[in-house]
Amino acid sequence: MSDFFDAVIREVRRRRKIDLSLYRQDMLERRIQNRMNRIQTPDPETYLRLLKGSSAECNALINNIGVNVSSFFRDPIVFEIVENSILPAVIARKRLTGSKEIRIWSVGCSSGEEPYSIAVLVHRALLKEINEWQTYIFGTDMDSEAVEQAESAIYPRDRFQTTKLGVLDKYFVPQGNMFQPVAEIREMVHFSIEDCATIDRIAPADSIYGNFDMVFCRNVMIYFLKELQLSLLNKFSRAIIAGGYLILGTSEALCVEVESDFRTIDAENRIFQKRM
Ligand SMILES: C[S@@+](CC[C@H](N)C(=O)[O-])C[C@H]1O[C@@H](n2cnc3c(N)ncnc32)[C@H](O)[C@@H]1O
Repeated sequence: MSDFFDAVIREVRRRRKIDLSLYRQDMLERRIQNRMNRIQTPDPETYLRLLKGSSAECNALINNIGVNVSSFFRDPIVFEIVENSILPAVIARKRLTGSKEIRIWSVGCSSGEEPYSIAVLVHRALLKEINEWQTYIFGTDMDSEAVEQAESAIYPRDRFQTTKLGVLDKYFVPQGNMFQPVAEIREMVHFSIEDCATIDRIAPADSIYGNFDMVFCRNVMIYFLKELQLSLLNKFSRAIIAGGYLILGTSEALCVEVESDFRTIDAENRIFQKRM
C-alpha cells in the first residue's frame, strides 16, 4: 500500500481506533479515493492535511468506507427461511426451557432495514404472546450517519422492493412519500455505533452482547481481510448460544478454522447453527 494510504490508515487509527488495515486493500483505496473526489480534494497531500486537522473529516471518511446499501427483507429467501424454520425452532426451544427471552444482533446494520425486518418477523412469530416475551434486537454499525438514519427510521419506497404488501401495510406507516416502522416495531430495536473491526477491541463487549439466539452479519465481512473475518467469526462463535444461529451474506463464508463450531443448516443461504 502506498505511503499515502498508510498515512490515512494511521490517522484514522489514531483518532477513532478503527483499524482499516484489516480491510481489503482494493476496496479501501477505492472508497478513500471516492471520498477525496466527492469533496473535490484529489491531491493526496492536501487531503492528508485536511484529515489530520479535522475529526469531522475523519468521521465522514469512516462513514464513506462502508458501503451502506441495504433494504428491507434483502434476499427474501433468507428471511423466508428465518420466518418459517429458524425462528419457530428458536421459540420452540425457549418454550422447552421455560425462557421467554429472545436476543438477536444485526452486525453492520447500516440504516436499520435489517434489524427492523428481523423485528417484524419476531413480532409475526410471537403474535398475541409478544407482550409476554422479552425481545432484544441490537443493530450496530461503525457509520454514525447510518445509525442516525436507523434511529429516525424513515425510509423511501425503494427500500421495500422485496417486502410483501401485507407486511408493508401492517407494519409500516406512510409519511408523505416515505415509510416508518410502527412504534411497536421501532421499540423492539436498539442501535449503537460500534466498530467490529479492531481486533484488540472487537466490539461490542461480551457482557452486553453475549448469549445471542441469532447473529446476522450480512454483506459486511466481504470488505474484510481473512484475519479480520476469522476474529469476527470467533467472536460470533463465543457470542451465540449453543444451538443458536449465524446468518451471513450470500457471498460470505465461514473460515475453515471455525467450521467445526457450526453445523450448516442451509449452505446456499449461509445459515449456520452453533453446535451444542
Ligand atoms: C452493505 S452494508 C450491509 C447492511 C445489512 N447488513 C444488509 O445486508 O443489508 C455494510 C455495512 O457494514 C458496515 N461496516 C463496515 N465495516 C464495519 C465495521 N468495522 N464495524 C461495524 N460496521 C461496519 C458499513 O458501515 C455498512 O453499513
